[in-house]
Amino acid sequence: MEESQNRVRWVYSSTNNEELEDRYDQWASEYDRDLAEDFGWVSPGVTAEVLAAHVPKEAKILDAGAGTGLVGEMLGRLGYQDLHAMDISEGMLEQARRKGVYQGFRQMALGAELGYDSDYFDAVISVGVFTEGHAPPQGFDELIRITKPEGFIVFSLRMDLYEEGGFKEYQEGLETSGKWKLVEVSDPFQPLPKGEPEMLHRVWVYRITS
Ligand SMILES: C[S@@+](CC[C@H](N)C(=O)[O-])C[C@H]1O[C@@H](n2cnc3c(N)ncnc32)[C@H](O)[C@@H]1O
Repeated sequence: MEESQNRVRWVYSSTNNEELEDRYDQWASEYDRDLAEDFGWVSPGVTAEVLAAHVPKEAKILDAGAGTGLVGEMLGRLGYQDLHAMDISEGMLEQARRKGVYQGFRQMALGAELGYDSDYFDAVISVGVFTEGHAPPQGFDELIRITKPEGFIVFSLRMDLYEEGGFKEYQEGLETSGKWKLVEVSDPFQPLPKGEPEMLHRVWVYRITS
């Protein structure tokens, strides 16, 4: 447990995208054991269930910051098949390949331009990626561009970061400018009940305006 905690701290103390990518590459083979088994990471399952209440099973879905594919596994169990993984870390994507649930894999960074056509996906899901030192709120702009009108963007977010990390203003700004519309915000839940019980997440569901 202490070893897992040290690895998590080491990854989250990265100071730029290159360092983050490199540290996730190195963490990839231990990630599922550290986060899912030792810390009890529940956000993939919770967020997939929230998405399933809005998005039909035949939807083409991008898992943005797919990591080792825990979210894809959950979506697969719920009956989704047209799943596409993107992540900044090739090492994490390599683990995701082994899960056998995604149709495509792309290494890209949220916050920069994404190499997908506009209006390409029916929905985007992103779990544990819009967070400190990872993807900035500006990353939503490109996700909106590549999602079809009336499509959904579903993501988990720490409550403190929403209030104090620039997300509240950015999310509200996108709604005011008519880019997306808030559909649902989940109740708070503990994403890491065994590792960091004091942390709280919510799942946000937005619908792209037509
Ligand atoms: C905490 S993990 C979450 C992985 C997976 N979604 C899950 O729920 O298990 C964060 C992931 O985001 C990726 N990541 C970090 N910053 C990113 C960025 N700017 N663009 C794309 N992926 C990023 C990392 O490589 C890592 O795989």
